[in-house]
Amino acid sequence: MKFSKGDSISSNGPMIYSMLLAIICVLVNQAIVTQADPLSHSCFSHDNYTKGSPFEQNLNRSLEYIVNDSVNSTTGFYQAFIGQGEDLACVSALCRADITPNDCASCIANASVEIRNRCPTSKGSIIWYDQCQLKYHHVNFFGFIDHDNRLNWTSNNCAASNDLSGFSATVHDLLNNMTTGARDSEKLYTESKITLNSTDVYGLVQCVGDLSLDDCTKCLQELIGDQTCAYVHSGGRVVDGSCNYRYESYSFINIQT
Ligand SMILES: *[C@@H]1O[C@H](CO)[C@@H](O)[C@H](O)[C@H]1NC(C)=O
Ligand SMILES: *[C@@H]1O[C@H](CO)[C@@H](O)[C@H](O)[C@H]1NC(C)=O
Ligand SMILES: *[C@@H]1O[C@H](CO)[C@@H](O)[C@H](O)[C@H]1NC(C)=O
Ligand SMILES: *[C@@H]1O[C@H](CO)[C@@H](O)[C@H](O)[C@H]1NC(C)=O
Ligand SMILES: *[C@@H]1O[C@H](CO)[C@@H](O)[C@H](O)[C@H]1NC(C)=O
Ligand SMILES: *[C@@H]1O[C@H](CO)[C@@H](O)[C@H](O)[C@H]1NC(C)=O
Ligand SMILES: *[C@@H]1O[C@H](CO)[C@@H](O)[C@H](O)[C@H]1NC(C)=O
Ligand SMILES: *[C@@H]1O[C@H](CO)[C@@H](O)[C@H](O)[C@H]1NC(C)=O
Repeated sequence: MKFSKGDSISSNGPMIYSMLLAIICVLVNQAIVTQADPLSHSCFSHDNYTKGSPFEQNLNRSLEYIVNDSVNSTTGFYQAFIGQGEDLACVSALCRADITPNDCASCIANASVEIRNRCPTSKGSIIWYDQCQLKYHHVNFFGFIDHDNRLNWTSNNCAASNDLSGFSATVHDLLNNMTTGARDSEKLYTESKITLNSTDVYGLVQCVGDLSLDDCTKCLQELIGDQTCAYVHSGGRVVDGSCNYRYESYSFINIQT
């Protein structure tokens, strides 16, 4: 379903428009996942490796390297690559910028084990947790925007607003505005809170550390999209290989960085 300015709905006035948004909101309900379990994963490569192969050795060592690195350094973004040609293993991991270095290291350690369990032979996979994401591929993916691996969740509830189109447009603006803040921050990350009438909205956006500043902006803008009527739930989250956003009506951001 697609809406744009000037479609027949707008001629029926804002009331009908808001009702339509409410119906859409109810129709696309999906539970939001939290906790220490992975949010999701994708074994996206069609190529497989065999047990004991040079690729597997390179993958193991690259994974071990970033797990070690995440213990030693607090940058929150880690990369490693070992090998060449068909045996090349490129690995990267990103932590949410608002978590502690300990949680980051623990999340990456868990991810490095779980991605092997879930994708035991795939030469390219990605796994997302609430607090981190980890990806590997036998092709060099560093510095490229990855929208192919994209997932989204929305909260079960519609936004607590009697002006859903106004709410949605403001959340869209908020997320778009935050892309500028992400570009200007060392960790390509921004968090924000606004109060819309009496409803709080908390948001964060983040890019992986190997994107250029321009590509970080581009990645987020493409993820956020240009539909100002898409934000009718009380919360929503979109993740991909390179950037992500999330907004909620409650505080889910750790204040400590
Ligand atoms: C890789 O393995 C998957 C699952 O076992 C299989 O569906 C796929 O065809 C394999 N790919 C190749 C290129 O052999
Ligand atoms: C790579 O690590 C996995 C999981 O720990 C292990 O089962 C496998 O034997 C290792 N492979 C190589 C080649 O080191
Ligand atoms: C990771 O750390 C362990 C323990 O310090 C060490 O034995 C191992 O060689 C390290 N691996 C890599 C790839 O850096
Ligand atoms: C982490 O630090 C330990 C101790 O300082 C060092 O032995 C190890 O090589 C470092 N690992 C990485 C991946 O930098
Ligand atoms: C890592 O896994 C352990 C065991 O399942 C769990 O207790 C812990 O919370 C996980 N850590 C993170 C950061 O997800
Ligand atoms: C969420 O995913 C569904 C199914 O892939 C897609 O149709 C929808 O456009 C996505 N929504 C957003 C906001 O990305
Ligand atoms: C906020 O309140 C004003 C005044 O009651 C109303 O016109 C507006 O639609 C509300 N905005 C939202 C997003 O709920
Ligand atoms: C977004 O930025 C514009 C321009 O700075 C500002 O007028 C607007 O209030 C901001 N919107 C939100 C929701 O933060």
